[in-house]
Amino acid sequence: MRSARAAALVLALGSLGALPGAVPSPTMPRRAAGGAPAAAVGRGRGPGELDQQRSGPPRTPKNLQVFPKDTPMPELTAKMRVIAASLGVKCVFCHVRGDCASDAKPTKHVARRMLRMVAAINDNNFSGRPEVSCYTCHRGSRRPVSQPPIRARGRGRR
Ligand code: HEC
Ligand code: HEC
Repeated sequence: MRSARAAALVLALGSLGALPGAVPSPTMPRRAAGGAPAAAVGRGRGPGELDQQRSGPPRTPKNLQVFPKDTPMPELTAKMRVIAASLGVKCVFCHVRGDCASDAKPTKHVARRMLRMVAAINDNNFSGRPEVSCYTCHRGSRRPVSQPPIRARGRGRR
């Protein structure tokens, strides 16, 4: 059941990844910080070789409790961009700068709760289809609005 949930979650955020322009392709090669020019490592080499020279051994997430533990880093980063955009925040809203594995920020705990909530909503109401996402409620804000904009008593009615 846990893995079914996780799968639904991957699906949910996977489809978010398809939002136009929101997320770069997860298979895009990671650029070394500082963007070392390709000329420095020569032309005509295989992409795998280039990757190794750029970034050493592949980084793997250390502290995943909701997503599958073996989620590849580029895929995870793509999901994170969608989450950040959905709430209209930067990464440091939930993460200690330079240490995304840290659980020091309370907002990261809330986000885990929300991830499980969204998976449950989709499981229980939409046969696991990713109909509801962070953006469904948040709409680019950290505080969703739960009341419709009805004007003072009696006035907003038609
Ligand atoms: C709204 C909160 C939130 C925002 C904003 C956010 N993240 Fe995350 N991030 C999380 C949560 C929650 C987890 C842990 C998920 C889990 O437990 O499966 C996580 C995990 C990660 C991890 C894995 C760390 C590890 O080693 O376990 C990385 C890397 C990461 N985020 C990068 C980013 C980046 C880059 C951004 C900005 C583009 C970002 N995050 C924005 C909530 C957030
Ligand atoms: C069903 C509506 C709904 C969905 C879907 C939803 N949220 Fe929320 N979220 C809320 C509400 C309401 C609050 C404010 C109340 C609270 O903080 O408990 C909130 C608050 C938060 C906060 C705390 C913000 C702050 O200022 O402290 C974070 C972080 C968050 N949500 C992350 C997420 C993430 C990540 C997702 C997607 C996985 C998500 N939410 C999906 C309704 C939703």
